[in-house]
Amino acid sequence: MITLSAQQIADITGGTLHNIDPGTAVAGPAEFDSRAITPGCIFLALPGARVDGHSFAEAAVADGAALVLSSRVVDAPCCVVEPLGPQSSNSDAFAHDPDGAGAAVLAALGALSRHTIDVLADDGLTVIGLTGSAGKTSTKDMVATVLRTTGPTVAPRGSFNNEIGHPYTALQATPETKFLVAEMSARGIGHIAHLAQFAPPRIGAVLNVGSAHVGEFGSRQAIAQAKGELVEALPDAAHGGVAVLNADDLLVTPMAARTEAAVVTFSAGSHEADIRATDIELDDLSRASFTLLTPDGTAGRVNLQVFGAHQVENALAAAAAARAAGISDGSIVAGLSAHTAASAHRMDVQTRADGLTVINDSYNANPESMRAGIDALSRTATARGGRAIAVLGEMGELGDSAEVEHQRLAGVLARRGVHHLVAVGDSPAVRALLATAEDAGITSVSAPDVDTAVRAVTDLAQPNDVVLVKASYAGGLWRVAEGVLADERNDEGAQK
Ligand SMILES: Nc1ncnc2c1ncn2[C@@H]1O[C@H](COP(=O)(O)OP(=O)(O)OP(=O)(O)O)[C@@H](O)[C@H]1O
Ligand SMILES: [Mg+2]
Repeated sequence: MITLSAQQIADITGGTLHNIDPGTAVAGPAEFDSRAITPGCIFLALPGARVDGHSFAEAAVADGAALVLSSRVVDAPCCVVEPLGPQSSNSDAFAHDPDGAGAAVLAALGALSRHTIDVLADDGLTVIGLTGSAGKTSTKDMVATVLRTTGPTVAPRGSFNNEIGHPYTALQATPETKFLVAEMSARGIGHIAHLAQFAPPRIGAVLNVGSAHVGEFGSRQAIAQAKGELVEALPDAAHGGVAVLNADDLLVTPMAARTEAAVVTFSAGSHEADIRATDIELDDLSRASFTLLTPDGTAGRVNLQVFGAHQVENALAAAAAARAAGISDGSIVAGLSAHTAASAHRMDVQTRADGLTVINDSYNANPESMRAGIDALSRTATARGGRAIAVLGEMGELGDSAEVEHQRLAGVLARRGVHHLVAVGDSPAVRALLATAEDAGITSVSAPDVDTAVRAVTDLAQPNDVVLVKASYAGGLWRVAEGVLADERNDEGAQK
């Protein structure tokens, strides 16, 4: 954050001060977890599912917080904002916010974030926003690695990309920070436009438009409408705005017409684009290397250490965004090649001592990322001379298309030559997957729960086989991956 007086914070947030001298300097940043208080920070009194943050206000100040941002007066230095009323919470941020007290504190956080970013941007901070249906976190981590070659960079941890995560992350920026990377997710029209107000991006990249959350949006066109809000929020080209668009995605390319920013395109396929990859090769664990081409010519050979052919798309988006932020081609090639996965349960590939390889991609799943994961499974199994075993659970939030999408998934397994399916769970969608896979001739096992799935895999697996573990987050399928890696026959331990 930037250092502000308590009075400035009250002015920015529209709050009133209590128990504090208005001239007191507050350095921030903001923290909502009372166990993570740092000296001088602002403690956010937010309602939680079980507890009210106001109950921790005094303890937070005793631990070093300089100010509490709250919706009622507490017995500690505080800046109090008025609850916004019962209808004000439009987000998933709070399970329980009957009088809009949480929404009010969040709005104050957003205002504080906006003020901070405006001041820092005037001083040279570059904000980069990323959105897309699949690959935001993977790409955000890559962009952050590349930017760090050149200057101090702030990026959210994991997928902390909602109405709390976005301004919270923005407030981690200080006058030393050169780059802020923001992962921007949407569950509805207007969400990205709203997030963009907290930390207006100068560079915005749209990775793809798939069918994640189609149940909430209604159609892929509606998803495209929502994702395109990122490029609409950019400044015009004369003010440095750059929209990075995926030339391979038919729903992304038309977004060029929705922005005044300069447009830079990338293609991991065969489309005309500013940033491209040629001579793409995959090693036996599906790690890609490619030659990076830019409008200035050949930038160099990139050797990715992250897994899956789809990472080429992410790497090109990262390269385009980093170039727009002024990073040299040499640093981009070096940064991409040095990057290792920074967020858990995404294409985490480990090989057991006995040779069994486990691809743990259990963080989430939708039809596009399932295809990407199955592609990596099949290539890796072929390269290692083993069989491909898919341990799949439900892809959530697909609305009416759930059963059809799970039946299609069985078609993908068949086309990619997957030998075995372990279908985890017992929902209609999983049963549809199982039945269609059996009809397609794939040897299939039903596992009602994680433990059964682990046993099914350990009974089935032989050295050199490759196991993909993937489902939506709610399935918690990383426990299958962990169980298989920890299996007793694996007595020499796992190795990368
Ligand atoms: N470019 C891509 N195309 C298809 N699938 C991808 C791509 N990049 C990553 N994935 C897969 O999508 C899944 C989620 O990846 P990641 O966490 O990076 O996406 P995200 O967009 O941040 O997801 P979320 O919306 O849950 O935050 C992983 O299984 C990953 O392997
Ligand atoms: Mg994410």
